[in-house]
Amino acid sequence: MFNTEENIYGNLLNGKWIHNKENLIHIKSPINGELVGSIHAMSREEVDEAINIAKKAQKEWALVPTNEKSKILHNVADLLEERAEEIAKIMVLEIAKDNKSAISEVKRTADFIRFTAETAENIKGESLPGDSFPGFKNDKISIVTREALGVVLAISPFNYPVNLAASKIAPALMAGNSVVFKPATQGAISGLYLAKAFKDAGLPDGLINTITGRGSEIGDYVVTHKDTDFVNFTGSSEIGKRISRITEMKPILMELGGKDAAIVLDDADLDLAAKNIVAGAFSYSGQRCTAVKRVLVTDYVSDTLVEKIVEEMKKVTYGSPLEGNFTVGPLIDTKSADFVEGLIKDAVDKGATLLAGGTREGNIIAPTLFDNVTVDMRIAWEEPFGPVLPIIRVRNMEEAIKIANESEYGLQSSIFTKDINKAFYVASKLEVGTVQVNNKTERGPDHFPFLGVKSSGMGVQGIRYSIEAMSRVKATVINLK
Ligand code: NAP
Ligand code: G3H
Repeated sequence: MFNTEENIYGNLLNGKWIHNKENLIHIKSPINGELVGSIHAMSREEVDEAINIAKKAQKEWALVPTNEKSKILHNVADLLEERAEEIAKIMVLEIAKDNKSAISEVKRTADFIRFTAETAENIKGESLPGDSFPGFKNDKISIVTREALGVVLAISPFNYPVNLAASKIAPALMAGNSVVFKPATQGAISGLYLAKAFKDAGLPDGLINTITGRGSEIGDYVVTHKDTDFVNFTGSSEIGKRISRITEMKPILMELGGKDAAIVLDDADLDLAAKNIVAGAFSYSGQRCTAVKRVLVTDYVSDTLVEKIVEEMKKVTYGSPLEGNFTVGPLIDTKSADFVEGLIKDAVDKGATLLAGGTREGNIIAPTLFDNVTVDMRIAWEEPFGPVLPIIRVRNMEEAIKIANESEYGLQSSIFTKDINKAFYVASKLEVGTVQVNNKTERGPDHFPFLGVKSSGMGVQGIRYSIEAMSRVKATVINLK
């Protein structure tokens, strides 16, 4: 049984839903504080059990032919598509995402899983002749294949509870690993629905085991556990850095926070820039790692760009996700709304020009736009994870690059210009994982490499990259003697 009459969700352990009515965490909706359901805060002993199950199940799974693994993943994708509306309903309540975006997240996840299965089917090894290296004859060949790592620990954030969980689980499984999945506590029920789709699609028992509980209580224990062989984490830079410190030699893949800049140069198409900036900054209330989190615009076009952004912002709607598909809704919790409010106050106190928003009703922050933001303001550097966009006016392209690179983060940047040479020049100077030319910052398409540098991450995600990250090279050298 997935959930009980009292709406307590179980954990998937060795193919069974296990309920424990003690140590419950009650998940309340950020929309109205009503109970969405309850999950169990697992003890260390229960976590040990989940990891042991995964460890045992992995050995056989690694031997299952890739085409059979692929069939199961295709079944999962089909089930997710069938259940998209059902899962979206939970997501709306649990993380206050609007219904349309929630459905689209589930469907994107189905596509992701299918593409992962097909990519894994087409992964090739290689063979290297020894005689290319000086001093060697043609009597050695290295045959390079890939093998699984073992137990992958998948830790996901609240903002994409289905997609950013599946983007770890599906490549891990296709690479022959088993998975221990720890969802964000706020988002855990949506994550459990994903795990249910894997179970119902026929994934053999023990290959996904879920562990619910506060990261602050079980996080350190699981990431350092001797039987978790790889940590695939998405979340804040603060927690990411902690994981990186304590895991010592364990391999990790981490996608963390960002402060993505949209750089707008003198010759940019300003209508295009304004549209992309506003769409990039405010969707899901700015609670996206890749949201546009600052604009760096050259003086020559700044007045016109600001006018266009103000105009574009009139289309940004806000309200309760229970009442419509609004761009901006309640933030995930009161602490987050307080934090964003603090950033707004600091900017106002230090003399930024408030052009829109700046108000708060409960945990809904009205879409907020600041002009004339200066580098002494917190909003110039800190990640709000909320609907606040600062505009920083700069003298020229070089100053834009300098300020962009002074950030501790390095996820993505956008450059708006009609001059392809300038676009390449700026792209080559920016210290980020991805530069978007004449587009908002964004992760997809999901087979593109996706990575952050500096405090924004370690390693590379993206379908093939994730499969490679969660498998290791095995070289077998044939000596023809
Ligand atoms: P978070 O607070 O760092 O939590 C992320 C996950 O880590 C949750 O499952 C959390 O569990 C868990 N966790 C907490 N403490 C832990 C510990 N000591 N050890 C191991 N795991 C622990 O992040 P969030 O608030 O969910 O997400 C927002 C942040 O994630 C933003 O900074 C955003 O930029 C970033 N993010 C980045 C990307 C990207 O791809 N670059 C994508 C999405 C989000 P609990 O929920 O139980 O605390
Ligand atoms: O929140 C972080 C996600 O990885 C961003 O994905 O650009 O598709 O919204 P997205």
